[in-house]
Amino acid sequence: MNVNGTPYRTIWLKSDDPDTVQLIDQRNLPHEFNIEDIRSVDSMARAIQEMHVRGAGLIGAAAGYGMYLATLEASRSSSFLDSIASAYETLKATRPTAVNLVWALDRQMKAINGENGEDAQVEIARKTAQEIADEDAAYCRRIGEHGLQLFREIATKKPGEPINILTHCNAGWLAFVDYGSASAPIYAAHDAGLPVHVYVDETRPRNQGARLTAWELGQHGVPHTIIADNVGGHLMQHGLVDLVLTGTDRTAVSGDVANKIGTYLKALAAKDNNVPFYVALPSSTFDWTIRDGVKDIPIEQRGGEEVSFAQGFCDGQVKRVRLSPKTSPAANYAFDVTPARLITGLITERGICQANEKSIRELFPEKN
Ligand code: MRU
Repeated sequence: MNVNGTPYRTIWLKSDDPDTVQLIDQRNLPHEFNIEDIRSVDSMARAIQEMHVRGAGLIGAAAGYGMYLATLEASRSSSFLDSIASAYETLKATRPTAVNLVWALDRQMKAINGENGEDAQVEIARKTAQEIADEDAAYCRRIGEHGLQLFREIATKKPGEPINILTHCNAGWLAFVDYGSASAPIYAAHDAGLPVHVYVDETRPRNQGARLTAWELGQHGVPHTIIADNVGGHLMQHGLVDLVLTGTDRTAVSGDVANKIGTYLKALAAKDNNVPFYVALPSSTFDWTIRDGVKDIPIEQRGGEEVSFAQGFCDGQVKRVRLSPKTSPAANYAFDVTPARLITGLITERGICQANEKSIRELFPEKN
């Protein structure tokens, strides 16, 4: 996608130094656009944990590149395989909810273990990291193509009027390598000339909606309005939302969806108001081992300071200010699970299915 007219992915290998990974550091967006060089497994782990990069697909791609850096480090160590195993654990411990992390790490381990000799192992890790990133971008593009049909259906029912979408958090290109999951159909519809307008939940505590989704949509010229997190129900009651469209960090094989905290409440409001609620995901976000999402998907709890403080731009600088009394503790559950019964459909790279095991497996028969 474009940043001030220049095309970017969110992560890539430095063109004149393939031992360095470069990524867009999202911490100070939209106020500052910074590119960070990552040269070690520890730096990549910090970038994931401290959310320089975030979002399910991008966490997976970062883990993939992290394992490539791990092979470079391992080839300088006394025990290649021990060093790789330790890097795997370091990267795995960074964030618990997005399943793309462990999916990418396992894919890399399989590729590395399938080669003989350190040079071949380094090379396969580089190739696999690149494949994970390319695949993520390609799958998101296809999600856009499949999701476009939903927008066309809505457009035929209200010709010439804006199609109002409500989205939560950032499941845009910043959360992936390119295009995004929930944002891909929005960009596809906008590019096809449909009159799209997006209500963007601010998404406290880290404000991924207000900071990142709004910035992305603005860069692409998509009309949008930022709303406080609690506004969605009111808009739906007044017929101002045609479709709720979110991403997911882990989707159980039953169709239960883990996504940014607050998604569940939007799904409840959508159900009560007969507003379709769709979730977009590449297949790397399915967890084929979990059926009961509410019980079994691990929910990350982050530091309470993300709730007690807010970050903004003031006097030419990114600043952090305290919101709450110093002595009041804060809890920070980062994700919740929306049960499959509240979800109208899942938009994947292979097409749209219902949020239930039968329909999901029909689309991905190789997982049976
Ligand atoms: O904590 P984050 O920013 O990594 O959370 C991820 C998200 O942005 C959302 O939950 C998103 O909708 C799913 S990731 C594609």
